[in-house]
Amino acid sequence: MEIKNITFSWTEYENISDLDKADKELLENAITAAGFAYAPYSGFRVGAALLLENGVIIKGSNVENAAFPSGICAERNVLSTSSANYPGIRPVALAVAAITSNGLVSQPVAPCGNCRQVISEEEHRFGKSIRIILGSAGKIRIVEKAGDLLPLQFSPSDLRLAP
Ligand code: THU
Repeated sequence: MEIKNITFSWTEYENISDLDKADKELLENAITAAGFAYAPYSGFRVGAALLLENGVIIKGSNVENAAFPSGICAERNVLSTSSANYPGIRPVALAVAAITSNGLVSQPVAPCGNCRQVISEEEHRFGKSIRIILGSAGKIRIVEKAGDLLPLQFSPSDLRLAP
């Protein structure tokens, strides 16, 4: 018997003004995208901004539906947009922010499990890490690899175990 352990590190900034120029720009795009969300049911407006290897920034936001499970998160929305409009161009960094009736959230947003799985798939697809910037009105967390947010994940290599 052996007990195994997984740890990961992230960087924390006190304020958006402490970020470097590129990260700040990406997070500002995510905040703008949060304003474009369609979230009449939850009132939780999420924005995501994706920086591609060619320098293009794409925005996405959550789009809810009266049939609740038909809604989509901002992160998966922006990744689908990227895949359809910039095929083969690698995502480099993804910033996320959310707005409620109180304005920009005061704690960094945590992407849902579903989105962590989908972001991780992009890392496998292109063979490189995606930098994740989790924004708020206060602290900002930067995780260098989306897969770190999903330890022991189901990944493309698991499918090879199938008969
Ligand atoms: N949501 C996102 O868009 N991204 C996340 O990372 C967490 C949750 C959306 C889904 C739903 O429209 C609303 O936020 C409340 O869960």
